[in-house]
Amino acid sequence: MRDFVCHGDILFAREADALEVYESGYLVVQEGRVEGIYPVIPEKFENFPRKDYGRGLIIPAFTDLHIHASQYVQRGIGMDKLLFDWLNDYTFPQEARFQDMSYAKPIYDAVVRDLLLHGTFHASLFTTIHYDASDYLFRALEEKGLYAYVGKVNMDMNSPDYLCESTEESLRQTERFLAEHPGTGTVKPVLTPRFAPTCSEPLMRGLGKLAGKYHCGLQTHLVESRAEKSWTLELFKDYGSDAEIYERNGLLENGPSIFAHFIFPSQADLDIVKRADSTMVHCPDATTNIIAGIMPVERLHGEELPIALGTDVGGGQGMGVYRQISRAVQLSKLKEFYEPEESKTITFPHAFYMATKAGGRVFDHVGSLEKGYRFNALVLDNLEDAGCILTPVERAERFCYTGDERNIVARFIDGKEIHL
Ligand code: GUN
Ligand code: FE
Repeated sequence: MRDFVCHGDILFAREADALEVYESGYLVVQEGRVEGIYPVIPEKFENFPRKDYGRGLIIPAFTDLHIHASQYVQRGIGMDKLLFDWLNDYTFPQEARFQDMSYAKPIYDAVVRDLLLHGTFHASLFTTIHYDASDYLFRALEEKGLYAYVGKVNMDMNSPDYLCESTEESLRQTERFLAEHPGTGTVKPVLTPRFAPTCSEPLMRGLGKLAGKYHCGLQTHLVESRAEKSWTLELFKDYGSDAEIYERNGLLENGPSIFAHFIFPSQADLDIVKRADSTMVHCPDATTNIIAGIMPVERLHGEELPIALGTDVGGGQGMGVYRQISRAVQLSKLKEFYEPEESKTITFPHAFYMATKAGGRVFDHVGSLEKGYRFNALVLDNLEDAGCILTPVERAERFCYTGDERNIVARFIDGKEIHL
């Protein structure tokens, strides 16, 4: 059923500075997209089937622009380490197991199930260096109609032998991935050099050529820690900044570029990502677990950089990107407290915008309930205590701070209700 009317309290973020709310509104869905929101049902839609959610809160589905599907089983483990030890001690040995499809399949099935469960219908995912497992995840996401970018990871240096490709093999398997997944459905392939320290210059150059040949975008980690930043510039001596590695090798020209973390950018990094219309991804939990830096969200937003949210599972511990909304507000307060010159506190509407429409920009018309957007939406309920009435905005905020998948009472993708 892709033509119907939903009644409830409707809430979404058109811009970062305010939430748009329609209490007891009627949202008309036509051919799977939002036709409009009305205080009473217009005559021409009177014969559409109706779904009445009462005081249920109808919101756009969430967007997680940085998640490692391959690290799903690491959630909440090894969180007392910093990035490099966490990678070497836990992550690399675990990712190596994706060579074995009997290991990979149930994990990727669980990732897809958990994305649906938590209302994340748009995501950009890392896999591992392994072709077969990456192919499996791609197909599993597409089968459910999720909107996603999936990247087979590239690593050809500074990686353990058991998780390292030759440059040629890395390029060959990446080209195979692009050729076999043209991205004509809801899931698209994306180039995924893990981060500059594990990818040689010839590999970056080769990936740039593939970007042009197959018209595809890029996702990677960028200036996520001071150690990573200085190591990168030591390895890439001819480059003046981290982002320049991707720009000069032709990786920013053919699709969205999605940069996770972006905590310690130089002015040159900023100029490059702006020129490329890149999207930055703030991952509050991962930032506090393994990275130890806080993105200056408010300052970067002031420079008109698009900033989305990500769980960065397994650097982050939870699959609900809605929790990153509340964590983003909390971290921005800490940042202002300790570094008042660096950045200010962000508002709840701003953080909600990041996890919906801001991240949705790398897809087509998702992340909002404006006219013409795909009806990729959730209905939330049971967010009030007995006798304590909350406004729609208060209920949305409560969900992000203390709610979970049990509060999601209906899910829609392209106007189709999803039953788990
Ligand atoms: N930098 C390089 N690899 C990783 C990873 O797997 N997770 C995070 N958060 N940062 C990285
Ligand atoms: Fe990451």
